[in-house]
Amino acid sequence: MPHFLDIHTTDATALRAILDQAAAMKTARDGAPRATPDAENPLSNRMVALIFEKPSTRTRISFDLGVRQMGGQTMVLSGSELQLGHGETIADTARVLSRFVDLIMIRTFEESVLQELAEYASVPVINGLTNESHPCQIMADVMTFEEHRGPIAGRKVVWSGDGNNVCSSFLHAAGQLGFDFTFTGPDSLDPDPAAVAFARDKGSKVEIIRDPFEAVADADLVVTDTWVSMHDSQSTRERRHNLLRAYQVNDALMAAAKPDALFMHCLPAHREEEVTNSVMDGPQSVIWDEAENRLHAQKAIMRWCLDL
Ligand code: CP
Ligand code: NVA
Repeated sequence: MPHFLDIHTTDATALRAILDQAAAMKTARDGAPRATPDAENPLSNRMVALIFEKPSTRTRISFDLGVRQMGGQTMVLSGSELQLGHGETIADTARVLSRFVDLIMIRTFEESVLQELAEYASVPVINGLTNESHPCQIMADVMTFEEHRGPIAGRKVVWSGDGNNVCSSFLHAAGQLGFDFTFTGPDSLDPDPAAVAFARDKGSKVEIIRDPFEAVADADLVVTDTWVSMHDSQSTRERRHNLLRAYQVNDALMAAAKPDALFMHCLPAHREEEVTNSVMDGPQSVIWDEAENRLHAQKAIMRWCLDL
């Protein structure tokens, strides 16, 4: 039985044969033209690494499924299992991964990890959420809004609650795609000033209004998210609940928005905390379309990254 257990217990001729075959396969791979991608399977022969340093349901499943639907393959890796979680630098990890895979999606903590990975990788990197942003989510959200209500340009989006990573990406989209954005929440949880400045510099009307009922007037879309994000210390939970209780999205708040206003939440939701069951499951909620559209938006993002 040809086990490969140790060099000193494997026949030297066999070692040489293995080395020769490895070199021959590498040369053949490097010389072979890439299979021409077809419309059905644009990611055929492509390997995508999906790295998660935080938990995920939607991002994990939608990326994995999206790659498979486009004929590619995935490796789903948890940060703690990689050397990344044990002291190897981000730059070195990026260099190594780039030798193996065609595309990297990472969900991580500090945005600087994402930036460093992208700087040193020679393959495209996609942000699957950091402490500071969640761009794939907002691409799906914009897609969902436009499916239901047409162009988002010129519309008013109101964020009620914590000015977190998802909120920042919404502000970035407001600037890039030309819609107005109102934040309502306590001042200690205001959105990132840089994201606010970005949207304003691009010409978007951005308002910060403390009274949630005043804020949602004329809203085309009301959005909220968890009051305690994955990177937040759990010890802040009680304090945040006290601060944010007034910003719960409930029937009364939705009634103060436009009659045809939509409701969105990136999920996972904490029912009866940041949003009531009546709104989550009510006629204005498009949360399941929003979740599904992660798949479609991300497939398009991956194709854009790989120019396919
Ligand atoms: N909305 C979102 O990104 O969900 P997951 O954390 O389940 O991926
Ligand atoms: N703001 C949340 C979003 C989860 C998808 C978090 O970062 O935990």
